[in-house]
Amino acid sequence: MHTYCITGGCGFIGSNFVRYLLNKYGSNITIINVDCLTYAGNPLNLKDIWDEPRYFFRKIDICDKSALKKLFKEFDINYIVNFAAESHVDRSIQNPEAFVSTNITGTYTLLETARQSWETEQGFLPERKFIQISTDEVYGSLGKTGCFTENSPLAPRSPYSASKASADLLVKAYSDTYNLPVNITRCSNNYGPYQFPEKLIPLVINNCLNGSELPVYGDGKNIRDWLYVEDHCGAIDLVINKGLPGEVYNIGGQCEKQNIEIIKAVIRIISGLLPDSKNIGEVLIKYVNDRKGHDRRYAIDSSKIRKELGWYPQTGFEEGILETVKWYLDNRDWLLDVTSGQYNEYYKQMYKGK
Ligand code: NAD
Ligand code: TYD
Repeated sequence: MHTYCITGGCGFIGSNFVRYLLNKYGSNITIINVDCLTYAGNPLNLKDIWDEPRYFFRKIDICDKSALKKLFKEFDINYIVNFAAESHVDRSIQNPEAFVSTNITGTYTLLETARQSWETEQGFLPERKFIQISTDEVYGSLGKTGCFTENSPLAPRSPYSASKASADLLVKAYSDTYNLPVNITRCSNNYGPYQFPEKLIPLVINNCLNGSELPVYGDGKNIRDWLYVEDHCGAIDLVINKGLPGEVYNIGGQCEKQNIEIIKAVIRIISGLLPDSKNIGEVLIKYVNDRKGHDRRYAIDSSKIRKELGWYPQTGFEEGILETVKWYLDNRDWLLDVTSGQYNEYYKQMYKGK
């Protein structure tokens, strides 16, 4: 009976991962969702899970040392899976401070709490691991060819990616110095249900539904490597169970697309699903000023996790993007709650004092 501490479990990937774990392991595991509910944390992302007996929520900031210490006394935690982060590059350009605080200090605080709680005179307790959810953005920007491997140098270029790379170095330091069992995963751009509509795909879907302009940064030819969130969850599960301590694993969908291709695909799918909506079309596309320091291309070589852990993505882009668009169309209440800010109201209903 393992106990998972999932930080950032009310965010996009974290909530998908909590659901993935419960579907796979059911009542054989305990999940503690640690989230301080920033603008990106939405209790509604886990509404179907609030009443699960083995699911607990704690409203804690990962920078809060004493709250984390108390948590580790309350629960006998086996795995920390650290999703909690400030995650949007545009926000990091506007206001980097929260990124330094949560992504760097927060990761350090979690690492130090884990070290103090898990260390004994005989070494670390068995069946313990710290899994840091990182990003391909720590490797910087690629030219027309090549892929990031786990040995590519860290060369982050935005305040977001610099804060994530700093966190990775702290995780590595805890492994090298104290032998803390850790893994770092570096994934490419995720897409799927429950993503906050500030990121490209849900933003385009939401704006199409509202008949608003679809902002394309620069020439629209920047490339991202897209990964369906469910496939990402499967990879993290494998890394927790089979990943060798101290190792880094890249996770990518082998699915490179220019931003403009993504935007046109979403328009095509929505127009097909909503044939009566005459004002959804490529006329909504608007080229706008480029993002400052906009990374040109990301591409991930995930042969290590494929060969060593037997992972491969199961969802092709056409299938994944169709499922994703359908989900947002079927969950317009969720979109409305998020865009109106209403979702913050649901905290008390979720918590229920458990
Ligand atoms: P998200 O922004 O949707 O969710 C982040 C969650 O963390 C929110 O629930 C928020 O309330 C919580 N949080 C933020 N600061 C916190 C703090 N100080 N204490 C406790 N909780 C806090 O993010 P996401 O897209 O789900 O990303 C999850 C992780 O995956 C992040 O670490 C991100 O860097 C990484 N990642 C994401 C992508 C992607 O495409 N979304 C790609 C690569 C890596
Ligand atoms: P985003 O979803 O913010 O993820 P990231 O910056 O972490 O890759 O952006 C994906 C790509 O889409 C990125 O190249 C920036 C671009 N983009 C736009 O062109 N328009 C937009 O409105 C947004 C949000 C992003």
